[in-house]
Amino acid sequence: MTKSKSHLKLKAVILVGGLGTRLRPLTDSIPKPMVPVLNRPVMEHTFAYLKRFGIEDIVLAMNYLPEAFKEYFGDGSRCGVRLTYYVEKEPMGTAGAVKNAGEYLESTFLVLNGDIFTDLKLDEMLAFHRHNNAKATISLTWVENPSAFGVVETDKNQKVKRFIEKPPLAEATTHWINAGTYILEPEILKYIPLDTHYMFERGLFPCLLEAGEPVYGYSYRGFWMDMGTLEKYFTLNMDLLTNKVYSPFNTQDNNLYSVIASGIPVVIGSGCRISKEACLNGPVVIGNNCCLEKGAVVENAVLWDNVNVGPGARLKNCIITSRSVIAAAQEVINCVVTPTKSERLH
Ligand code: GDD
Ligand code: MG
Repeated sequence: MTKSKSHLKLKAVILVGGLGTRLRPLTDSIPKPMVPVLNRPVMEHTFAYLKRFGIEDIVLAMNYLPEAFKEYFGDGSRCGVRLTYYVEKEPMGTAGAVKNAGEYLESTFLVLNGDIFTDLKLDEMLAFHRHNNAKATISLTWVENPSAFGVVETDKNQKVKRFIEKPPLAEATTHWINAGTYILEPEILKYIPLDTHYMFERGLFPCLLEAGEPVYGYSYRGFWMDMGTLEKYFTLNMDLLTNKVYSPFNTQDNNLYSVIASGIPVVIGSGCRISKEACLNGPVVIGNNCCLEKGAVVENAVLWDNVNVGPGARLKNCIITSRSVIAAAQEVINCVVTPTKSERLH
């Protein structure tokens, strides 16, 4: 992702639903979009990403109580965006959630699945959408195993022929899948039934195709990750630190950053107490107010806030959530540790 800035006149709707069950135990104490990546809620990265394209009007279409969110983000001004919250009384499905915010969407708008991390070029996707006079443009990414995703068949002009949500592998006709970012025209809202649970994937897209509406697929080959599992969460942190994808929060400007001898970055939160005789071998993220005692060795690890690592402890390939205590000389390898339990990461 380049840092050049465009000013797209689009509002964005971010879908924030589900309880993130596949990210347990990380989501036992906080909702999935608040899970920290480089010491900030993952949603803050999405806001920064949208802002780089000049998109500052953002709707959070949520299907659960937004307290934790509102408390942290409020009206969005601390992140330089304007947030509007639409909370469903009960889950309305991905398209139903957008319909719920319909009064706010009077011109071309963007929809993003809330659990995606990408550097998709939104300005180029919008130019593609306009060039094709599309009513809906779906971003596409190539994956090895398409059966866990929405599989999107297109013709030679990238016009969508078929959308099949999570087909058995044998029935997946292409590796190009729905990457979870859409550019839509407000006219499509009329196809979404009111007050009904309705999905883009199994409802609206097949319905638009049946109605002969122009739906296009925008193929993208850059960075894309669905942060749906522990392994992917861990890999995302490592990819950011090793600059596989750009993040404005992975720079020396944010004052949280240092490079230890290996040359691989380490992000360190504020208020940490790290013994001079502890060893950090990047990529490593250390949250706020952590304490690393003498002789502790930490490599390829993500530590949240208020973690205590005892003298001589060894951490490798692990995620340690807030307020966990690692005892003296303890070895934690390939694990996810919370204050009450430890389980395998890989
Ligand atoms: N507000 C709201 N209400 N949001 C919802 C609801 C709802 O009822 N249901 C799901 N969402 C949100 C989720 O929180 C997530 O941000 C997004 O919609 C997609 O839902 P997931 O549950 O993460 O779906 P998935 O990962 O199995 O599949 C989707 O994403 C794939 C790409 O990662 C589909 O869109 C696939 O077609 C796609 O390939
Ligand atoms: Mg998902």
